[in-house]
This record gives sequence, C-alpha cells and structure tokens, in this order.
Amino acid sequence: MTDVSGKRILLGITGGIAAYKAAELTRLFVKAGADVRVVMTEAACRFITPATLQALSGQPVHTDMWDTRVPDSMGHIELSRDRDIIVVAPATTDFLAKVANGLGDDLLSALCLARRCPLMVAPAMNVEMWQNAATQRNVERLRADGVGILGPTEGDHADREGGMGRMLEPGEIFAEVAAALGPKALTKKKVLITAGPTYEPIDTVRGVTNQSSGKMGYAVAQAAVEAGAEVTLVSGATVLAAPAGVERVDVITARDMHKAVMARAKQADVFISVAAVADYHPVDPKPHKIKRGNGNLKLELALNPDILGEVAALAKGPFCVGFAAETEDLNANAQAKRKKKRIPLLAANLAQETFGKDTNALTLFDEDGVHELPRAPKIVLARQLIEHIAKMLPQR
Ligand SMILES: Cc1cc2nc3c(=O)[nH]c(=O)nc-3n(C[C@H](O)[C@H](O)[C@H](O)COP(=O)(O)O)c2cc1C
Repeated sequence: MTDVSGKRILLGITGGIAAYKAAELTRLFVKAGADVRVVMTEAACRFITPATLQALSGQPVHTDMWDTRVPDSMGHIELSRDRDIIVVAPATTDFLAKVANGLGDDLLSALCLARRCPLMVAPAMNVEMWQNAATQRNVERLRADGVGILGPTEGDHADREGGMGRMLEPGEIFAEVAAALGPKALTKKKVLITAGPTYEPIDTVRGVTNQSSGKMGYAVAQAAVEAGAEVTLVSGATVLAAPAGVERVDVITARDMHKAVMARAKQADVFISVAAVADYHPVDPKPHKIKRGNGNLKLELALNPDILGEVAALAKGPFCVGFAAETEDLNANAQAKRKKKRIPLLAANLAQETFGKDTNALTLFDEDGVHELPRAPKIVLARQLIEHIAKMLPQR
C-alpha cells in the first residue's frame, strides 16, 4: 500500500449517517503518519462531535466560516492552502450538488471552491438519493471537473433498505487516497490507448459492431492519468465521458481508428490496445438504406488493418500492450496472440465476463509467464495493469 506519511490531508465531513466512519478514516490517516485537519459541516456535527475528531486528529476542528481563530479570518481560503489533498467522506447529496454548481455558503464548500489541491469525495446516501437524476448529473459534472469520485458501493444502509449509495469502507477510501498521493509511475510518459467497439457500415443506417462498452479502456485511461501520464484515448462510439485530463479522439470504423493511431503511435511511449476492433468490414457499403428483397442477402467482408500488429512492428515504436477477449481456451489463444503480434505484454479476458460489465478478471502474459489479476472493479484492474506496465518499462 502506498505511504501517506507526511502528507497534509484536509478531511471534510458532511451530514450523513456514515459520518461516524470518518472517525475511523481519521485514525487510519493519522496512524499512517499523515497530518490531518478536519472541517465539518453543521449537519455533520449532528451525527458525530467535533471533540471526537479533534481527539483523533490532534488538531482543532473547524466548522464555521466566521471562525476568528484563523489568521486574517480567511479560513475559507487559508485552511486548504498548505494541503496536499481535500477528501470529503461522507459526501452528502447536498454537498455534491453545492460543489458541482460552484456554491460556497459554508466553510467546507467555500474551501473546495478556493482550493489549489486535488479533491476526492466519497458519496454516501440512500439508493433513491443516489439514483436521483440531479445527483447523477452532479456526479458526472464533478467527474468532468476532475474531482475524484470514490465509490459508492452496494450493500446494507442505515435505512435498512440496501442498494447502491453506501459509502466505501474507511480502509478502501484510505487506499484510494494513498494511491492518488503516491509516486506517479508514468510521469512524462505519453500513453496512447484505444477503447470501445468499432462500427462498420453495411448501408447508411446499418452496420457491423460488437458488444464492447468501452468501460475497460476508459478505466485504463483513468489509471494512466492517475499515474501521471499524458493520455490520448482513441475511442469508438460509447456513452462514456472521457476521464478528466485525457485527450479524446472519436472514431467510428476500424480504418478510422487505424488512421488515428498510426498518426500518433511514433510519439507515444506506450500503446495499449483495449478496443474491440472489427477484423472485417463490408465491401462496398451502400449509400442508401438497403430494401428488403425476396431472397438472402450476401455480404462480402474485407480484412481490416491489424492496428496492434502494425504499431508493434514500428522501428522505435512504443511499448505495446494488447488485449485479447476470447470466448474459450483463454490461455492458449492469448499466448498465441502475444507471440504472433510480437508484443511484450498481453492482457486476456473472457468476452462474456467483461463486455458491458463493471468488473472483470484479467490474465497478464509476458516473458516472465502468467500473472492473474482476480475479479475486481475495472478501475482497480486498470491500476494494477498500469503498475505492471510501469515496472516493465525501464527494462526496454
Ligand atoms: C437521520 C438523517 C440521516 C441522513 N443521512 C444522509 C445521508 O446518508 N446522505 C445524505 O446525502 N443526506 C443525508 N441526510 C440529509 C442531510 O443531512 C441534509 O441534506 C443536510 O442538509 C446535509 O448538509 P451538509 O451537506 O451541509 O452536510 C440525513 C438526514 C438525517 C436527518
């Protein structure tokens, strides 16, 4: 686990039932050697007392924008100035709405507006509050603004109803924050990633595509950004928002993707081919909608370019990582693909276990052998993959 020793953390606590877990989170940060300053909203103080947090953090707790203890009475700015990160756990639906919309009518939201450091929030609320369209809009906006969203997860709630919206456990939040504050393994590296499906037109309204959602590739892009890389994401059509800080290039067909990748591959240090690229495209797509006839229709398919193979064959090309989605004989097919493409690393997954899903399991194949990454959320696997790539890079 990454070290948070010496890191200066501002822990914000808002008014949800999960506020009691902030005491444990404070203890974990302090025990790991972090300097923790706690700011609580008025509602948070109804769930847990500032005295508890003061005792655990060993520092005065701030709750009031008009607190004259802060030099110059500029607490809404000063309290976050020397911080490495602001972490808000739990983050109520009300607080998410405030920050997403730039409101600052209490100390914690004003501090978030005036911050110079990264902000991570751990939402905690009942399932209806979480699923509410306004909350989802706010979360998407925060994500686009570069705010780290930790969880939430599914499970038991204090309201005994259960479902999505439960806050991550303090240990999980600690690990996410530690990873965000930890050394960046890919600083100054240019990483080119492909994600999502390709679409090959048959006529103006129909085409050949596949079930890739893009979630794995987008998670890899997110993990690469977190690791300090400069990331370009060449994406087939998906409904996903690109992670903050990523340059996104939208493409439709495999030939578009090929063009976009080949134009950038030589400048990249790492190329990660996560997209589910069609091997074939219909010859002669019709410029109008094909009418129904009386008999069968024959489609002739032509071979698409082998994007990964071509990048791997470049002289002085990037370090290449392939993905293989197989439906059977995962290991044998993946090993064969790695050898055929002559790439140093291949991540294999079962197509039926990954397409459209939020979790996955990966098997990595490299010169040293086989490394299993057990089933976990895609972002967790993506971080493990990036860590693996970073370890292999200096050997080049
Ligand atoms: C018993 C109780 C439990 C609550 N739990 C939550 C919760 O888990 N998540 C949430 O978003 N709001 C919860 N609320 C509502 C918030 O406390 C309320 O929206 C408040 O204004 C939040 O203020 P703050 O965001 O400034 O902390 C709860 C309210 C009560 C009375």
